[in-house]
Amino acid sequence: MKLTLTINGKLRSIEIAPNVMLLDVLRAAGYKGVKKGCGEGSCGACAVLIDGRPRNSCLTFAAQCEGSEVLTVEGLGTPENPHPLQDAFVRHGATQCGYCNPGSLIAAKSLLDHTPAPTWEDVKEALDGNLCRCTGYVKRIEAVLDAASLGKK
Ligand code: FES
Ligand code: FES
Repeated sequence: MKLTLTINGKLRSIEIAPNVMLLDVLRAAGYKGVKKGCGEGSCGACAVLIDGRPRNSCLTFAAQCEGSEVLTVEGLGTPENPHPLQDAFVRHGATQCGYCNPGSLIAAKSLLDHTPAPTWEDVKEALDGNLCRCTGYVKRIEAVLDAASLGKK
């Protein structure tokens, strides 16, 4: 079947099997920033925004996304022009191996879209589903609060 959706602002039409997950479709289409961790909804590494809402793409059938707008980490910023959240993650040491960062950044982006001036608890809760085995969980909270304090999202 043909799937038509907008990924990072670009209209894409992709041939898919009816039972394939969005995670696999995105990665096959070149969006390798979408990571596969657990593959069962527990780690958040595969998070993307679908119509502005954070979703674990490993649990989302691609066919359910017909006509949707999807944002992956590639749509946030580039190494030359990073998103304020990406910049803050680097400055605060909230990235080490980096595997969890795409999902964490997507969750943080969703938070700041809806809550531009979050509290520590707001950030902690928003990133609750994004596991990180490297940095601990303090630095990324500091990073999100820093990005929020700059008033950019
Ligand atoms: S890979 Fe989707 S939640 Fe872990
Ligand atoms: S930076 Fe390695 S898992 Fe989070």
